Amino acid sequence: MKSIQVKRSVSILEVQKQLKANAQLGRVGGFLVVVDDEEKVIGIISDSDIRRNMTEILEGIVIIAEQVMNIDFISISDDLNVAQIPEVIFDRLSTRKIENRIPINYIPVLDKEDRLKSIVHISDLIPVLEHAGRQILIFGQGFVGLTLAMAMVNSGIPIVALERDEDLRREIDSLKPKVFEPHLRDILSQNLHGMYKLFGSKLSHLERPTLFSKRIHIVAVGTPLNKDGKETSVDLNSVFEAMFEIAPTLKFGDLIILRSTVPPGTTRTVARLIFEKFNLRAGFDYHLAYAPERTVEGNAIAEVSRLPQLLGGFTNECTRQAANLFSEFVTSVVICENLEAAELGKLVTNAYRDVRFAFSNEVAQLSSHLEVDVIRLIEDVNLGYARNAIPLPSPGVGGPCLTKDSFMLGINDKEGSVILSARFLNQDMVKFTADKIIDISREFTGKILIVGVAFKGVPATNDLRQSTPIEICRELIEAGLSISAVDAVATSHEILEQGIPIVKELSGDYNVICILNNNPENVKIFRDILDNWAKLRHDDDARLALFDPWGMIATSDISNKKVDRFTLSSKIV
Ligand SMILES: NC(=O)c1ccc[n+]([C@@H]2O[C@H](COP(=O)([O-])OP(=O)(O)OC[C@H]3O[C@@H](n4cnc5c(N)ncnc54)[C@H](O)[C@@H]3O)[C@@H](O)[C@H]2O)c1
Repeated sequence: MKSIQVKRSVSILEVQKQLKANAQLGRVGGFLVVVDDEEKVIGIISDSDIRRNMTEILEGIVIIAEQVMNIDFISISDDLNVAQIPEVIFDRLSTRKIENRIPINYIPVLDKEDRLKSIVHISDLIPVLEHAGRQILIFGQGFVGLTLAMAMVNSGIPIVALERDEDLRREIDSLKPKVFEPHLRDILSQNLHGMYKLFGSKLSHLERPTLFSKRIHIVAVGTPLNKDGKETSVDLNSVFEAMFEIAPTLKFGDLIILRSTVPPGTTRTVARLIFEKFNLRAGFDYHLAYAPERTVEGNAIAEVSRLPQLLGGFTNECTRQAANLFSEFVTSVVICENLEAAELGKLVTNAYRDVRFAFSNEVAQLSSHLEVDVIRLIEDVNLGYARNAIPLPSPGVGGPCLTKDSFMLGINDKEGSVILSARFLNQDMVKFTADKIIDISREFTGKILIVGVAFKGVPATNDLRQSTPIEICRELIEAGLSISAVDAVATSHEILEQGIPIVKELSGDYNVICILNNNPENVKIFRDILDNWAKLRHDDDARLALFDPWGMIATSDISNKKVDRFTLSSKIV
């Protein structure tokens, strides 16, 4: 430490010599602390202090260290813990005189008697400063925002969540979020009001933890299709509203990460609008990046950390800033070519799945025409033939993502688009499936029981948004059939909210049972119903039709029962 200390009374020429010697020996460069006779640190001298006094030095005027030293310097005490260091530094930064606000390179570490213990370079403190001084805000606590927040707090990252829907805030606050997600309630109850804080959407009501702390805004608001009859255009209002809420509060170094699914070009449009309205330049006044969510409902909290995170930044520094954040809680980050590539990457991921499923669904339609069992066909052609991995068909492809994301690709007028044709084919499966059930019910007249109405079954979810089973139920009701529904995850209340009658008690008076999502728990429900049906129906000629698009019910499940089984394509014989 001696080499970077000078006594208060030494001449400036001595100070200069010491600075030069340190530089030549590769020690702390351009920086000395000034000590009094008891070796207490009373000031610092940097190259710039020497430069300021160069005229006097050249004129031969004798100046000593204490005349040029800066006494308004920032130091930290050697008994501070890591969490306290940023507070002290930010506090001192904000109370220093304006003329002393020069860039800081070194910070002396002092003991209780103000003696020099060590010295740290500001770059060594950056990770500490970035973490403790920052505030991470997530806009929107729907499925994506909430599961992301839970994954982050579970990794030890504090989150301030903003949700403008009061009912949703109340549900989360009372630990009863509707989202069905393993471990969500546990993580929420451990972190609510601690690592996880929830507010309304008004940013102006929220303070930064410290004057200098950096904010990271993650925007995970909804981007539904417009409900104006033009079902193929996207409503981006929530994205722009959130951005305009953020923009007036932005400070240098803040970061915005857009996470909602959007048409390519949207993030760059955000940058343009913020510049036009607020005169703030992305990549300069603030950082901007796009990082889509690709998790699956029902296993999202685990997947957030496990899945490779696609990422595109407005500039390389924007990308770096966003990548730094994700590297704290995800295992890998994939840096895309640019913003548009990351936006397109999300849409292509979902469009690819939609096309694959459409392929199988078209095979189901072909098989139906030829009265071939499509499940057996697909199993036969996949068996031992690694180049095939054809998925099983399904009664449509639903949910909040696959039903809309293809329409964001800007191909809505493109004739012959494989992706659009696939989307329409998957939409048609609702009618195709409803017609199958209607056909079956002509032979098996009576009540119809629907088992499984969430939009998908694996991993399980209670999400009924754009659920094809719900749409099929509506078609059946419209056709005048008597149906009631039950689901292993979605509650009776949630099903009733969709206008679908629920099963009140298990009875034997069903003649058709349809399994409309592949949640294995629905198989258990089916078994109970079937046992009940067998007990309650003593009439010898009673027969039951089972509509089982995934072939989930094994022959052993229904042996000795008078049950006929149907897939999407045919009766199983
Ligand atoms: N659900 C999924 O599985 C999934 C998966 C990947 C990506 N995505 C995409 O992620 C985005 C969000 O999806 P979601 O299912 O969570 O949507 P959602 O509509 O369920 O939730 C969005 C929430 O944002 C809130 N909100 C809107 N504007 C706000 C604002 N200015 N401040 C605070 N809160 C605001 C809304 O009240 C709503 O609760 C969409 O773009 C979606 O396409 C969804």
